[in-house]
Amino acid sequence: MTIKVDFLRNYPDCIETCANWEYMTWGKNYGWTRERVIAGYKSMTNKGNIEQAFVALSRNKPIGTVLLIENDHENYKQYRPWLAALYVVPEYRCRGIARKLVAMVEDFARSRGEDHLFLYTTSPNIYKGMGWQVTESFGEKSSQKFLMNTKLSRL
Ligand SMILES: CC(C)(COP(=O)(O)OP(=O)(O)OC[C@H]1O[C@@H](n2cnc3c(N)ncnc32)[C@H](O)[C@@H]1OP(=O)(O)O)[C@@H](O)C(=O)NCCC(=O)NCCS
Repeated sequence: MTIKVDFLRNYPDCIETCANWEYMTWGKNYGWTRERVIAGYKSMTNKGNIEQAFVALSRNKPIGTVLLIENDHENYKQYRPWLAALYVVPEYRCRGIARKLVAMVEDFARSRGEDHLFLYTTSPNIYKGMGWQVTESFGEKSSQKFLMNTKLSRL
């Protein structure tokens, strides 16, 4: 199985699919419209922006996505930039594709001179094996969230 991870800007036909995964998984629960999410993804396909969307592909078919964005939580505006909206389609899970997507975001952020990345999640174990650490937890006990960060070492 050959899996490729690339900038979403190189696959404009995949923008709506990736945006739709975010909309169905998170956006609609926040009350966002599908159009708003698609517009957001389009804005993250401009070369030169630090904010970028990425896509994982198998035989040119999109199977996962992730974002690099300036901020993903209004209570933590002092931190930047953030990894967000990591998603892999169910049929391709548990094969290291999320790991590849996270590595691409880290490499891109490093290439832009960033020295840290941040995220929040309800499932910190996804990221712990990739070198990320929990900084603090927040939210209700029933839906506890974890603020995490990783230091981007210079290569
Ligand atoms: C979470 C998700 C992105 C993982 O994708 P994947 O391609 O199956 O992940 P990988 O195979 O690359 O596994 C990466 C690590 O995450 C762990 N992991 C995968 N799914 C997990 C889950 N649901 N809960 C906890 N850990 C998980 C794996 O065990 C692996 O850990 P390791 O490196 O210590 O072995 C995928 O299940 C998904 O899209 N879920 C729905 C959206 C979601 O929850 N996104 C995360 C938002 S924070």
